[in-house]
Amino acid sequence: MGHLKIKNGELAAGDRKILENLHGHLREQVHTFVGYPCTGEFDFTPLLPFMEFPINNVGDPFVDSTYRIHTRQIEREVLAWFAELTHFPPDQYWGYVTNGGTEGNLYGLFLARERFPAGVAYYSEDTHYSVYKNLRVLNMRHIMVKSQPSGEIDYEDLLETLRIHRDVPPIIFANIGTTMTEGVDNVGKIQEILRKLAIAEFHIHCDAALAGMTLPFQEGIPPYDFRAGIDSISISGHKFIGSPIPCGIVLAKKHYVDRIARSIEYVGTLDTTLTGSRNGITPLFLWYAIKRAGVDGFRRQVGQCLKNAQYAVEQFRKIGLEAWRNPWAITVVIPRPPAAVLKKWQIAVYGERAHVIIMPSVKIQQIDELVADIAVARQEQAKTAAKLTAPRKNHSGIKSQPKPKPKQRSKP
Ligand SMILES: Cc1ncc(COP(=O)(O)O)c(C=O)c1O
Repeated sequence: MGHLKIKNGELAAGDRKILENLHGHLREQVHTFVGYPCTGEFDFTPLLPFMEFPINNVGDPFVDSTYRIHTRQIEREVLAWFAELTHFPPDQYWGYVTNGGTEGNLYGLFLARERFPAGVAYYSEDTHYSVYKNLRVLNMRHIMVKSQPSGEIDYEDLLETLRIHRDVPPIIFANIGTTMTEGVDNVGKIQEILRKLAIAEFHIHCDAALAGMTLPFQEGIPPYDFRAGIDSISISGHKFIGSPIPCGIVLAKKHYVDRIARSIEYVGTLDTTLTGSRNGITPLFLWYAIKRAGVDGFRRQVGQCLKNAQYAVEQFRKIGLEAWRNPWAITVVIPRPPAAVLKKWQIAVYGERAHVIIMPSVKIQQIDELVADIAVARQEQAKTAAKLTAPRKNHSGIKSQPKPKPKQRSKP
């Protein structure tokens, strides 16, 4: 608990204790945090002096406000960095730092609906649960398309579904890393389908919550960025980069945003974002992490995570689990572990499947410990199952013979 810096005298001893206990509890939980796509490894304590101000990036990041306690200049640098990463030309993008992937996706869908009010949204069955809610919030027509076992969209089903609705512009919600398997919808193939059906008006939004920070640092990946003809993209900040406050970025073609902008005299800026008041601390976190790691640092981190993910697959297989991962993924899919394992480890489960995500904070020792725990729990499960099926013993330890079936009595 050495990191806790609550000044003496500011809180009653009992309240201080509550915070110290919570801090200790959270620190302990990081060790077993292997099932969610958020790293537990970062240190933003050098930014603590910024906690003294009522920072608020209200409204548009590119238009200064009469509310001058903001970090817009830093936010713009963060957006420029992500624009370069996703190959948006410097003069053609607009975006902002969001509260996370859900808001970025909502924004992308909002822009798409503003472009095509009668458009129909298409998304695969492996799409994150929040997207369905977003579509309902926006009151958009939507159709779910089948997925392949890898998590990638089923292109044949997409083609056939689009063919039936050729009269309305499609809004394609592409998963660039599905939640459960990190499957990536190939935007090149989606474009081919649209060409084949001679559909000229469409919007492609990419949900790159996690993989938006891993794919750019790998070779031979499926096309998904501006070069593939996308219109908007959302990437989470608290996932691969890591942050104590959820955050993300959304980028879109600039001229789509111009059509929704409204000038607001009260704050002296444009109302282009979903929320009014906006977090000005999270852009600082992202900026700090980007400056510290740089592209080379992230490339090294991603390389290490991929190596560790492959190691995890091999270790799980050694104990007889059918573990697998997509080629560019740091998500390792395994069968649902026994309850005892789920009690100790924070692992996301979905029906009979589960996954562990090898984020930068997940180390080899944790993988080894998890594999050992699963092996023990499976042995226990097997023993219990054997006991239940074995013939019962009586008190003398002698196996009781199965009772002879009562002879069939002939009917009187
Ligand atoms: C693929 C995908 N999209 C969207 C989200 C939602 O992102 P957030 O939790 O940042 O709102 C997640 C969260 O895990 C996700 O995995």
